[in-house]
Amino acid sequence: MARPRVLSGIQPTADSFHLGNYLGAVRQWVALQETHDAFYMVVDLHAITVNPSPAELRRRTRVAAAQLFAAGLDPERSSVFVQSHVREHAELAWVLICQTGMGEAGRMTQFKDKSSKYGEGSAGVGLFTYPILQAADILLYQADQVPVGADQKQHLELSRDLAQRFNNRYGRTFTVPSPYILKEVEKITDLQDPTAKMSKSSSSPQGILDVLEQPGPLRKKVMRAVTDTGTDVVADDENKPGITNLLRILSAITATPIPELEARYAGQGYGTFKKDVAEAVVDAFAPIRERTEKLLGDEAELDRMLAAGAAKARAVAAETMAHVRENIGF
Ligand code: ADP
Ligand code: NA
Repeated sequence: MARPRVLSGIQPTADSFHLGNYLGAVRQWVALQETHDAFYMVVDLHAITVNPSPAELRRRTRVAAAQLFAAGLDPERSSVFVQSHVREHAELAWVLICQTGMGEAGRMTQFKDKSSKYGEGSAGVGLFTYPILQAADILLYQADQVPVGADQKQHLELSRDLAQRFNNRYGRTFTVPSPYILKEVEKITDLQDPTAKMSKSSSSPQGILDVLEQPGPLRKKVMRAVTDTGTDVVADDENKPGITNLLRILSAITATPIPELEARYAGQGYGTFKKDVAEAVVDAFAPIRERTEKLLGDEAELDRMLAAGAAKARAVAAETMAHVRENIGF
């Protein structure tokens, strides 16, 4: 039986992925290559919803792609590409926009979150239609499964609705995608504000561990991570969110259950524990950083890899779009 097809994307909106992106997404994408026919993209069309400068967008798109390869995505096994290199995304998005009700689009709660920082009425229409572009991304590839965290469930539901609606109205055109529930990586939190999610929009860079950061600053950040005033290395979300976050990080990176870590550090205090967390992070990130730097230093090779990925993606996207065009009456 053919492997199920899986599709996911990540935005080029920072100069590095952070530990949350790595554990919550990228590392799991790498694992999915073993069992799935995988399509992974750097979603630069999504990134322009917030109007980055051209130089910044170009740089971040390349850095994101290089990090995906460096983290272990294999261009032989997976199709890794840049969304804007495949024109069909924009074309299908328009078709699907014309199938979507205003009320339906307006119910997407992520828009409410993302637009709240803009004045009344001044958030971009691109931000509003973002989930419809996501639906186009998924449906173009006839994806069977889409890895989703809790924040994306509503968008996948919209993709399913649009696929079914289009199929009913115009004849069978799209695979209706199912959620692929990622191995539960509980949210990695900010080192300086351990009840908030580690995010590129965190208030202080001291709270974020970037994959491309040097060992020195990484160690410093972990050693300065906010903890409670106790001494016991035990998981307790309520009273010890900082230590609990560090336990989660060490557990995820070293594939060691938290109770085993609690036993290992019993009676040792926070210092030894934090040092080990820092080394685990440095060991996980250093090879990815080195490979990323090497790829970014060889522009022609990175271009070649992305062109090959786009060619594989385009072949599938063009076939879907040909059906769409015919079915819709173009
Ligand atoms: P950010 O929150 O920094 O803007 P994104 O929303 O672009 O990051 O996230 C890209 C991917 O990384 C998503 O799949 C998301 O679930 C995952 N991710 C982001 N932050 C975290 C985190 N703190 N813990 C676990 N996973 C995360
Ligand atoms: Na986010």
